[in-house]
Amino acid sequence: MSFRRSHLLGLSGLTAGEIGDLLDRAEGYWDAAAHAGWRTATPVSGLSVVNLILEPSTRTRCSFEIAEQRLGLEHLSVGSDGLSLIKGETLSDTGRTLRSMGVNVFVVRHPEVGAPARMAEELPEAHVINAGDGTGEHPTQGLLDLLVLRRQWGSIEGRRIVVIGDVLHSRVARSTVHGFSALGGSTTLCGPAHLMPEAGGWPGTTIEDDLDRALAGADAVMALRIQRERFGAGELLPDRAGYRARYGLTSDRVARLAPETAIIHPGPFNRDVEIDGDVVDSGRTEVWRQVRAGVAVRMATLAAIGEVHADSAPAARAGAGE
Ligand code: NCD
Repeated sequence: MSFRRSHLLGLSGLTAGEIGDLLDRAEGYWDAAAHAGWRTATPVSGLSVVNLILEPSTRTRCSFEIAEQRLGLEHLSVGSDGLSLIKGETLSDTGRTLRSMGVNVFVVRHPEVGAPARMAEELPEAHVINAGDGTGEHPTQGLLDLLVLRRQWGSIEGRRIVVIGDVLHSRVARSTVHGFSALGGSTTLCGPAHLMPEAGGWPGTTIEDDLDRALAGADAVMALRIQRERFGAGELLPDRAGYRARYGLTSDRVARLAPETAIIHPGPFNRDVEIDGDVVDSGRTEVWRQVRAGVAVRMATLAAIGEVHADSAPAARAGAGE
């Protein structure tokens, strides 16, 4: 089944067919993703995109902007400092304001879980892409992880990934694990007990406390940053040296991995905490291919939503309508 949704809010709830369709489309943009100045010969028409980036972002924001340019889309990016949100305007009023200018796609990064979904409810005739909502989901990041791994293996079916560290606060982990499980893979979660999700909460996962045991026979490993900014009051931050010794992808640990085990990290890295700087610089990881895949999956998502938009009723396409 191909992806025919109006919004991309998360990977949970998507079928293997829908995820596979987005990955197949992204495959078609793989070369374009690393080609400076590339422009599609068949621009996606009818979409006007605003990237509402209300939390810090390097990879996600820049890759959405590049994807939009390469697809020939009208687009602009704004952060919270440049918006009336700081004067007390609600996100929904910001959305309605932009809708009145004909904007019909919102790429939303927001510190609160569910903010993009609320926007999708409040602006039903627009399209919303979740670019990371608090500790919720980050579906295009999940897709890019799946794309890099599927390119390497041909299929995710039967593969096992180890996700290490601050899983509790990670929207990336939530999206990647959901996608991995939908495509027939399994996940081992490993990290400090208080940073693990509740037992049974995530599909296709088991928890293993000992990293070296978790890594034995793994097909891929993903290291996560300790997301300090998402810790609530009273939540215990691990100390850096102790964390690196127990859960870090150190040069020594990586040397003991099977050579075919893929190493991924969503970025930004805290070098010498969850992953050694030497490992990042060694060329042994997929981290730069992940960034390239990020442009490809964002192009794919926008192109798929462009098709849904073109097929939607004329009334829904008529801009703000008021
Ligand atoms: C992640 C995010 O913002 O959730 N980064 C990203 O989008 N590549 C992960 C993180 O912040 O650690």
